[in-house]
Amino acid sequence: MNFKHCDDFVKEFENVIKNPKKGKSSVYYTGIDLGTACVVMAVLDENYRPVAGAFQYADVVKDGMVVDYIGAIRLVGAMKEKLEDALETELIYASAAIPPGTDNLDGGAVKNVVQAAGFEITSILDEPTAANKLLGMENGAVVDIGGGTTGISLIKDGEVVLVTDEATGGTHFTLVLSGAYKKPFKEADEYKRKFENHKEIFPVLKPVVEKISTIISKSVKDHQVEELVLVGGSSCLTGIEAIIEDMTGIPTHKPMNPLFVTPLGIALSCSKEIID
Ligand SMILES: Nc1ncnc2c1ncn2[C@@H]1O[C@H](COP(=O)(O)OP(=O)(O)OP(=O)(O)O)[C@@H](O)[C@H]1O
Ligand SMILES: [Mg+2]
Repeated sequence: MNFKHCDDFVKEFENVIKNPKKGKSSVYYTGIDLGTACVVMAVLDENYRPVAGAFQYADVVKDGMVVDYIGAIRLVGAMKEKLEDALETELIYASAAIPPGTDNLDGGAVKNVVQAAGFEITSILDEPTAANKLLGMENGAVVDIGGGTTGISLIKDGEVVLVTDEATGGTHFTLVLSGAYKKPFKEADEYKRKFENHKEIFPVLKPVVEKISTIISKSVKDHQVEELVLVGGSSCLTGIEAIIEDMTGIPTHKPMNPLFVTPLGIALSCSKEIID
């Protein structure tokens, strides 16, 4: 799998987070990723190029469920306003994502949050499927290792044929680290996110990576899978792909920065067609 398009696109997005690109776009498309650990907003212009973005660590969602409804609306509303100010425009259309399998339980809440924050919603899709909008994988599985859950989307000839989602993700890494290092959760999470600490903490986190590998193996056991592509913030962990490849026996790769692939895929799924 060639990551050049994805890596270039993510780099462009990282640049506009710092320096929003004000322009004369006739329409803007927004992707909103309401994650367990992190809320990301990505704005694309009429040509589906990144023009602005923002992200914030927050506790408004747990494992795909909105647990702080008012907090979530406030946060999405504040991010919207900040990006509108930066672009000197009004953001109207948005897409959002939910973990696979939670649509019957909670898809409504995510939609309500996005609408209450002032957006018209154009689609709600599951996270790993959203990620593949940017990756463009033809055959294999996209594995979104986020904060609360690991979502897997099996792709055959470019089509999603199976999606699963299991609790275990970055929050579990942080809990293990917090216990081992006797650091409060927030501090342990910040420590974990620093690349220079990865080598040191990896042995402590390895059992959780092995658990995630088992989840992946179980989810795809009835299928021939050519390749795994890791996305989601927890895939940033240096060396995670080697353990997963070893344990699953499936060649495993990841893009340069897996953190923003899903939110950008969500934004790429946004259109002008409002759903109700
Ligand atoms: N550089 C990094 N190294 C290791 N872990 C990281 C890094 N950056 C982010 N993370 C971890 O990634 C997780 C957040 O990832 P992401 O934003 O994909 O999750 P989310 O979408 O909020 O969660 P979910 O999809 O489960 O609802 C957090 O646990 C965070 O600590
Ligand atoms: Mg996520």
